[in-house]
Amino acid sequence: MNICAVGTGYVGLVTGAVFADLGNEVICVDVDKEKIESLKNGIMPIYEPGLREMVTHNARDGRLRFTTDIKEGVRASEIVFICVNTPPKDGGETDLSYVRAVAKSIAEWMDDYKIIVNKSTVPVGTGDLVREIIEKNKHKDVDFDVVSNPEFLREGSAIKDTLEPDRIVIGAPSKNVAMKLLELYAVLERPMIITDVHSAEIIKYASNAFLASKISFVNLIADLCELAGANVNHVVRGMGTDKRIGSLFLQPGLGYGGSCFPKDSSSLAHTTRQYGADASLIDAIIHINDQRSTRLLAKIKKRFSSLEGKTFAILGLAFKPNTDDIREAKSLELVKGLLDSKATIRAYDPEAMNNVKKIFPEITYCQNAYEATEGADAMILVTEWNEFKLLNFEKVKGLIRQPILFDGRNIYDAKRTHALGFEYYGMGVQPYGGGVSA
Ligand code: NAD
Ligand code: UGA
Repeated sequence: MNICAVGTGYVGLVTGAVFADLGNEVICVDVDKEKIESLKNGIMPIYEPGLREMVTHNARDGRLRFTTDIKEGVRASEIVFICVNTPPKDGGETDLSYVRAVAKSIAEWMDDYKIIVNKSTVPVGTGDLVREIIEKNKHKDVDFDVVSNPEFLREGSAIKDTLEPDRIVIGAPSKNVAMKLLELYAVLERPMIITDVHSAEIIKYASNAFLASKISFVNLIADLCELAGANVNHVVRGMGTDKRIGSLFLQPGLGYGGSCFPKDSSSLAHTTRQYGADASLIDAIIHINDQRSTRLLAKIKKRFSSLEGKTFAILGLAFKPNTDDIREAKSLELVKGLLDSKATIRAYDPEAMNNVKKIFPEITYCQNAYEATEGADAMILVTEWNEFKLLNFEKVKGLIRQPILFDGRNIYDAKRTHALGFEYYGMGVQPYGGGVSA
């Protein structure tokens, strides 16, 4: 099929690359000239495992093209995916200006029947809005349909998630239109949920907010465990083995960051209130998450009477492993808190340092985790990259000034690290050594 993806970010680029890899003719459009130029030269704007290889190979074979010219994309395609950003406004409302702009451009250049598919995460009713904008602005009297096909990929495993999604949600105005999308996705052989446009739009927010709620719930329990002398890691194991609960998304720690859970839960709360329904559960999820880095900072401050003149090694800056994305990363809140308390920071992240440098040029960026711990008064694990899991603590002990470990993601074994001579502070577990209670 001939496909156009408007917006060549995480979603648009990965969607475009995967559809091309499946044999479709794909044009990726973006307003960012630099991004398109780089992509034409095989340079990826984001770090995503397997993406560069997939893009290069399909571009070379002519199935994947990049342009800033939306007219070219729209005219050449039967299905046009909207994959632009939908950032939050103050108060949580979703900023739909990019979606509106794309809808207007599509209307301008449509010359025959098109299926316009919304992949951006948008509040319920946006499909209707896109329809109205196109209807109002179309230059030719041609027919079109608007579909909602929310995206569930995760950064860091975007290609795999796109090729093997748990489900594909298609919110279409009619069976015939849904069939067209079914045909496009059939080759993946994954479960497909066919529904109406409004329900599909809500499925996306409900899914993200539900996952966020699992994380905040387990973090609430982590705080209780800490105060009550329990161990949240054991509690999670005890809960997660119940099939009805499941063990996924129950990792306690610094909470969720990224470009999606924070903005999508705020947007869902906003929409819920807009419709006059009760959003207090979603507000609580957000509130708990907002307290996570403050809680860890408080623990660090309690351990050291003053942070002034102290040096901290931060391991991990990305909002989660396997990405260079630092949007709403918990590391940023921690770095700010430590700097405000006049501490010195030595940080290391395998992919995200260049992005953090733009915000905090004043901290020391290191070549690896060991270099970061050199002369530090404590190390703080913020992002659980695999390479940090098997850290050689004997080596770290020889480099660090004080063997103190704050484990923001509970990836280390408290007893083991304590046996190696470290004071250990996790999230929702009792401290080992040092004798300072949480
Ligand atoms: P992004 O910021 O990485 O990319 C968006 C791209 O759209 C940018 O390159 C921008 O230049 C481009 N753009 C903006 N206006 C444009 C226009 N008028 N014409 C052409 N291009 C335009 O965003 P993203 O992370 O890919 O997210 C896109 C949407 O998908 C959002 O709604 C997001 O919530 C949703 N989503 C994201 C993820 C994720 O993991 N990142 C997963 C699922 C859903
Ligand atoms: C999330 C969803 O998982 C995707 O399905 C969705 O498509 C995407 O948002 C989106 O809508 O954009 P993503 O933000 O890439 O994907 O990352 P996740 O793996 O979900 O992690 C989000 C955050 O939650 C990270 O900061 C992670 O550290 C944190 N997290 C995750 C926890 O604190 N505990 C957990 O148990 C799991």
